[in-house]
Amino acid sequence: MPTTTHSINLSSQGTALKALFTGYLTIVAIGYLMALVQIQFTHGMADGEMGLSIDDIVYSYYGKRSGSTLESKLNGSMKVMAPEHDRLKIINWVHKGANQQVFTESGVRQIFDKNCISCHSPDSGMQIPDFTEFENIAAKAETDTGVSFSALARISHIHLFGIAFIFMFVGLIFSLASGIPKVLKSVVIVMPYIFLFIDIASWWLTKLNPNFAYLVIIGGGAMALSFAFMWIVSIYEMWIMPRIHEDNRDALLDE
Ligand code: HEC
Repeated sequence: MPTTTHSINLSSQGTALKALFTGYLTIVAIGYLMALVQIQFTHGMADGEMGLSIDDIVYSYYGKRSGSTLESKLNGSMKVMAPEHDRLKIINWVHKGANQQVFTESGVRQIFDKNCISCHSPDSGMQIPDFTEFENIAAKAETDTGVSFSALARISHIHLFGIAFIFMFVGLIFSLASGIPKVLKSVVIVMPYIFLFIDIASWWLTKLNPNFAYLVIIGGGAMALSFAFMWIVSIYEMWIMPRIHEDNRDALLDE
C-alpha cells in the first residue's frame, strides 16, 4: 500500500468530519439569516417604515426624545381615531405632565372612553395596550427614552456569550483552511470579536448619544462580512478544492 501523507487542512479531511463541519456551518448560516429577519421585525419598524434604517436604530436605543409614544401615535396612525379638538386636548394634557387628577377632572378620561377603549381594552382581543387602566396610559405618555438599561444589559450579555461561541467554532473550522496568507487569516479570525465588542458598545453609546447609531451598522456589517468570508472559504476548501488539486499544506503551520 502506498503511504499517503495526511496534512492538517480542510481539503484532505475525511468525509465524516467535513459532514460535521458542513452541517454546523449550514445551521449557523440559517441562524444568521433568521437573526437578520428578526432585526427587521424588532427594530426595522421602529420609525414606522419597513426596513432597517439609522432612524430605527436611534429610536430603538436612544428613543424619540422629542415626545411620548402617545403623542407620536396621535400624530401618526391614531390620528383618525379622535376629532381634532379631542386629539389636541390629549396632547396638551401630555405636555402638562400627564397628571392623573387632571385626567379625571378635565374630561380627558371621557375622550379615551369614547374614542379609544373600543380597541384598547382586553375585550377587543387586540394585542395593544389596555387604556381602561390609567397606568397604561401614563406609561405611553412618558417621554420615550428607548431601550432600558436593564434590557440593554440583558441583550448585551446574551449576545456576547452567544456570538463569541458561534465564532469560536466558525473560526476553528476556518483556521484549518490552507493557502490563506497568515496575516489575512488572523485578521479575519479576530475581526468578529473586535466588531462584536464595537457593535455592543455602540448600543450603549447610542442610548446616550444618537450619533453613534452609525457604529451599530458598521459593527454589525463588519461582523457579517468576516462571517461570510470564513464560511465561503471553508465550504470551498472542503468540497470544491479537492476536485481541483491535492492539498498537502499544513494549515496549522501557516502553510
Ligand atoms: C380601531 C381600533 C383602535 C382605536 C379606536 C384606537 N386605537 Fe390605538 N391602536 C390600535 C392598533 C391596532 C394599534 C397597534 C398598531 C399601531 O401602533 O398603529 C394601536 C396602537 C396605539 C398606540 C401605540 C401603543 C404602543 O405600545 O406602541 C397608542 C399610544 C394608541 N394606539 C393610542 C390610541 C388613542 C389615544 C386612541 C383614541 C384616541 C386610540 N389609540 C384608538 C387600534 C386602535
